[in-house]
Amino acid sequence: MPGVRNPQLNKNGELVHLLSLDQLPREIVAHILDTATNFVSMNDREVKKVPLLRGKSVFNLFFENSTRTRTTFDIAAKRLSADVFTLDIGRSSTSKGETLLDTVDNLSAMAADIFVVRHSQSGAPYLIAQHVAPHVHVVNAGDGRHSHPTQGLLDMYTIRHYKKDFSSLAVAIVGDVLHSRVARSDIHALKVLGCPDVRVVGPRTLVPGDFAAMGARVFHHLEDGIRDADVIIMLRLQNERMSGALLPSSQEYFKTFGLTPQRLRVARPDAIVMHPGPINRGVEIDSAVADGPQAVILSQVSFGIAVRMAVMAIVAGNEA
Ligand code: CP
Repeated sequence: MPGVRNPQLNKNGELVHLLSLDQLPREIVAHILDTATNFVSMNDREVKKVPLLRGKSVFNLFFENSTRTRTTFDIAAKRLSADVFTLDIGRSSTSKGETLLDTVDNLSAMAADIFVVRHSQSGAPYLIAQHVAPHVHVVNAGDGRHSHPTQGLLDMYTIRHYKKDFSSLAVAIVGDVLHSRVARSDIHALKVLGCPDVRVVGPRTLVPGDFAAMGARVFHHLEDGIRDADVIIMLRLQNERMSGALLPSSQEYFKTFGLTPQRLRVARPDAIVMHPGPINRGVEIDSAVADGPQAVILSQVSFGIAVRMAVMAIVAGNEA
């Protein structure tokens, strides 16, 4: 929007917080992916460390459960030589009524440089970014159903790794799109990187027509939605964010929208199958697909380390 400052960028247009992929310029997205490429090769080195964040303190604040994001942020910060502190939210003073911003103020008084924040409330990382001192950086690790920008970036990294070029790809995002912050981040990133055919696929209750306004084609039949797709991104049913009966049952869901080897055959023969995790076998994806030759789900996890290293190095202004 003209006249409205993007809170992620400083006055020179440099990335200082990563809050959402919405309105992030293509050059910055591409720069993060290119920087991540330099870090991927580190996984093969004996000494997997660089001193880019030496002396900096990274605080992981996960107010919602996580396996992949929390662990890979932790690894990424350590590989950048930062000091890493992961607050145990369950044992923190949050349970005594301390507010989010009071918690942030107290950790800032311990000289935090980067906050990595996951929260069930959409917008919580924005609130923190507006509150902290100018030298402190905030990275959104997933907020409500709004945004999961580092997942979107690692998904783009994975697609670029396997498919090289976005300009002729058909990408289908399948499942509980309505409640998915990953779907929103992926759609923004795919559009900004020039993907011409982005599809969202699922039952009407979980894939409303308004996703067309984001530039995605909407399908309510699985085979139609994944036909000739180059990339299929499966999503978990996010029961924790559903209110009311949006589906008859998970068994019924699998019968109509579960990705099986037979259904996968309508996609391109070299299609890759992605999933942000955690996967629910037999609900959205058959084990034969999740563990099959077209699945790149664990590669996504590995690439997540390098992408999160790139994001933290860039927001802190400490690139190689
Ligand atoms: N993809 C993802 O966000 O997984 P976690 O919830 O385990 O971090």
